Amino acid sequence: MATPSDLLLLLLLPLFLSTAAGTSVPSEELRALLDFVGGLVADEGWAELHPLPCTETPWPGIQCETAAGDTDRLHVASIHVGPDVASFPPCKSAATLHPEGLLHLPFLKTLSLFSCFLSPNSVSLPPSLFTSSSSLEQLVLDSNTGLSGKIPSSISNLTRLRVLCLSQNAFHGVIPPEFGHLLSLQELDLSYNHLTGQMPEEIGSLLNLGIIDLSSNELQGTIPASLSTLHSLQKLDLSFNSLCGTVPPELGELKRLVLLDLSHNNLTGPLPETLAGLNELEYFLMENNPLDTGIPIFLADLKKLQAVGLSRCGLTGPIPSLTSLVSLAALSLDRNKLNGTVPRSLESLPKLGQLNLSKNQLSGEITFSEQFMMRLGKRLDLRDNTGLCTMLNTTFHHEASFNIEAPPCLGGNRGVMEAADLGKDPPLYGNGGAGFIRHLRFQGFAMENFGAMREEEEELQLGLTELEKRYRWIM
Ligand SMILES: *[C@@H]1O[C@H](CO)[C@@H](O)[C@H](O)[C@H]1NC(C)=O
Ligand SMILES: *[C@@H]1O[C@H](CO)[C@@H](O)[C@H](O)[C@H]1NC(C)=O
Ligand SMILES: *[C@@H]1O[C@H](CO)[C@@H](O)[C@H](O)[C@H]1NC(C)=O
Ligand SMILES: *[C@@H]1O[C@H](CO)[C@@H](O)[C@H](O)[C@H]1NC(C)=O
Ligand SMILES: *[C@@H]1O[C@H](CO)[C@@H](O)[C@H](O)[C@H]1NC(C)=O
Repeated sequence: MATPSDLLLLLLLPLFLSTAAGTSVPSEELRALLDFVGGLVADEGWAELHPLPCTETPWPGIQCETAAGDTDRLHVASIHVGPDVASFPPCKSAATLHPEGLLHLPFLKTLSLFSCFLSPNSVSLPPSLFTSSSSLEQLVLDSNTGLSGKIPSSISNLTRLRVLCLSQNAFHGVIPPEFGHLLSLQELDLSYNHLTGQMPEEIGSLLNLGIIDLSSNELQGTIPASLSTLHSLQKLDLSFNSLCGTVPPELGELKRLVLLDLSHNNLTGPLPETLAGLNELEYFLMENNPLDTGIPIFLADLKKLQAVGLSRCGLTGPIPSLTSLVSLAALSLDRNKLNGTVPRSLESLPKLGQLNLSKNQLSGEITFSEQFMMRLGKRLDLRDNTGLCTMLNTTFHHEASFNIEAPPCLGGNRGVMEAADLGKDPPLYGNGGAGFIRHLRFQGFAMENFGAMREEEEELQLGLTELEKRYRWIM
């Protein structure tokens, strides 16, 4: 029995059909679409079964629009092909890009080919693919491991381009300096390719850029100071390249920068104090660069920082007070040459959830509260600092699985023996040693903790001087 909604549908159906028939795709455009997509996917009769991609037999991944002022005709506006498009034929292993494939799709705004060209070195981008008559606003060719060759400079003909993403392909050669003509560009992502040469100065002309990601390439030379004109830039990721020289002081003018990732390069220090001007910076990642300086003072000015990565930067000197960094969640300073003590003030950072100070030359007592150590657990890493010691019960350390491995402190954090009043507690040691041992001071240690200490006898003795080692612990 027909429900009211079925009846409504029956009444409306002729209306839909006539609308669809009224708006048609120009035949030349339809043929260009069939050719272009036909070059990519294993068709197997798909096109014959779905002859009207914009209307009666819609194709997933294809979007059509009417042009302004002309509602009678539909145009192909967006093509997306990739394994993420359900119920559409997959790309064939011999997928190709026809050099003129886009010429007859003048209304195309988005072209996105994801994980389509996978046979090694099978396809390169024909320069003639990109002409100034194109309407392309987004060109996303992502995760095509078989897409190789050079990035054609003719992409610079696409003056309406807002998004250019060529990430995770196999491109080599240089970044074309002609990209400086892409004045509408908001996002430039060329990450995970094999690009070489210098970063072109011309990138500094792209005043609308919000994102630059050139990470995981083989770029050389210095970071161009011309980037300082990019006042809309929020993300600058140049990590995993071979950039050298110092960080240009001009980068301090990037007032809207949220992420600065220069990690895994060959940049030298010191870092310019002008970086104190990066008021919006949340992620400052410099890991694995031969900076060979102290921890930059300006860090304390970057109040929005959430993550600081300065591992393996050859850092020397003490860890400064960073109590102004109220948003800091992760601080990595491992594999440096930092010395001095671990500032207890780090525990007052309300968001801190990860602290890695391992493999440094830090010394003295670890004064963090048990509460703080419980909160961070294994994410507090103080290992491989030969000068650090702890006053806390070592059973507590082991049971809470801390990455601390510091011996108990003896004689206070100046490393000298101090006279101690063991007070009402029973004598610790018997026999001949007692006379000497009475002058040991176990700072902050409650007597009931000694049971646990005895189990850790070997570890304890590591912290003793040659003289003290002669006396055994007797309870
Ligand atoms: C496209 O760009 C290339 C290289 O930049 C240039 O030689 C060519 O004239 C341009 N073609 C059009 C139609 O704009
Ligand atoms: C890093 O830069 C120095 C010069 O500053 C150079 O001698 C060295 O070869 C570079 N190392 C790498 C891995 O590029
Ligand atoms: C830290 O190391 C520097 C040399 O790099 C040295 O001058 C300084 O005295 C050391 N400070 C401490 C507290 O060990
Ligand atoms: C701390 O850094 C070291 C490398 O220096 C690494 O092996 C370790 O896993 C890190 N610890 C944590 C908790 O991430
Ligand atoms: C040491 O700490 C553990 C874990 O907090 C606790 O269970 C144990 O009783 C303590 N041992 C001594 C001797 O205080």
